Amino acid sequence: AAMGHAMSAPGATSAAALPPLPAGEHLPALPRLSNETLDAGRFQASLVAAPLVTALWGDARQTTFWAYNGSLPGPLIELWEGDSVDIAFANQLPQPTTIHWHGMPVPPEQDGNPQAPVASGAQRQYRFTLPAGCAGSYWYHPHPHGHTAEQAFRGLAGAVIVRSKADPLRHLPEQHLLLSDLKLDADGQVAANDMADLHDGREGQYVLINGAWQPMIPLAQGERQRWRIWNATSSRIFKLALPAHDMLLVGSDGGLLEQGQPIDSLLLPPGARAELVVTGRFRDGVTAGLISQPYRRGKMMHPEQERDEVLAGIMPHGMRPTQALPARLRPLAPLAEPGFRRRIVLSENMADPKAMFLINGRSYDMNRIDGTGKVGRIEEWEVQGNAHMDHPFHLHGTQFQVLARTVDGVWEDEPFLAWRDVVNVAANESVRLRFVQQQPGLRMFHCHILEHEDQGMMAQIDFLTE
Ligand code: C2O
Ligand code: CU
Ligand code: CU
Repeated sequence: AAMGHAMSAPGATSAAALPPLPAGEHLPALPRLSNETLDAGRFQASLVAAPLVTALWGDARQTTFWAYNGSLPGPLIELWEGDSVDIAFANQLPQPTTIHWHGMPVPPEQDGNPQAPVASGAQRQYRFTLPAGCAGSYWYHPHPHGHTAEQAFRGLAGAVIVRSKADPLRHLPEQHLLLSDLKLDADGQVAANDMADLHDGREGQYVLINGAWQPMIPLAQGERQRWRIWNATSSRIFKLALPAHDMLLVGSDGGLLEQGQPIDSLLLPPGARAELVVTGRFRDGVTAGLISQPYRRGKMMHPEQERDEVLAGIMPHGMRPTQALPARLRPLAPLAEPGFRRRIVLSENMADPKAMFLINGRSYDMNRIDGTGKVGRIEEWEVQGNAHMDHPFHLHGTQFQVLARTVDGVWEDEPFLAWRDVVNVAANESVRLRFVQQQPGLRMFHCHILEHEDQGMMAQIDFLTE
């Protein structure tokens, strides 16, 4: 394939040195999960989680993954606001699993909580109805007790898009970029986590986009494209940039912003999504594609990514007139004064290898309820990173608005409103956020570095109807 620039070598990690994967292919489209019914307002489909053997280098070497419907990543699920969704799930893995609908407003008993495992060889239905106003970019991944990281890094993750009939950007061509991380051992098999992974979060040799290493994305001079980006890695905090081209942030985890925000780089923690409008601006001599810039996540981290890492190339694709953008994307209302406040402290205790990552001083216990809340009541949380490293904070079942965060110890208001379900809580910083849970039941919140979550950096609140 024609490469506009030299691609970098696989990233330096604790992982084995391996030859580069084939690079430079056209960005693969995510396969779509097909709807088995023609009934309006319904989506009915089947997902199977099972081992999958592939030849990554296209030669005799075979690597075993775990995959949804035999695809890496899993198929894209495209839904509409108001849809009633019915997914038949079969677990053909050698261990129990669940499907968690990350970020989506689904009832707790349908949300793949660790309390509702699907045994090896068993099946279940996941059923929920999507409320109005929830259009956005979500994803699905396993959430079984203690094995979320392992099942996700073996390949189990897929994208969900919920669309709105009133989408102001529907005229733009769309690209989907699901970022995952692949760590192989010296035999070319998916590596087990080592001590460094358990501590710092797993980082592999290869960042894949839609399962491909360093693919090429076609973009025309002047063309506007809508990019939806998913960070489905275990632990990478990406600082994404597109040096030559214009980036406008138009959406966060829970859908569109009020107005596009011009940005030079995008900090995307694990679990988070973003929507960009990218405009092709080819300038002489600037060839870098989509890159990940160095970001220091905490003071004691190793090994730091020291230089820009190329994640994808941009393939010049002629010239296209620039499509107009609406000035306002949608109205967003700030959540009112809270009826309840909580303080959530994220901390590390390196002296205790059995309880290293804590929330409010405790390690997750599936059978302990850490608090109760009320459906329909606005809560304000101050999440404190009393920690040496960054911990991307995630809450199930709803979207929140970040009000302010500390930067070098000083509170700074968020510059614009956005619906999110993941926010990076930097080392020794705090974040203030508000949300409402609209459905009763048990909701987890946790660090989305999946190794930390599995080691207990998770808690749960039972939301009750009055
Ligand atoms: Cu994406 Cu509880 O997780
Ligand atoms: Cu989630
Ligand atoms: Cu963490």
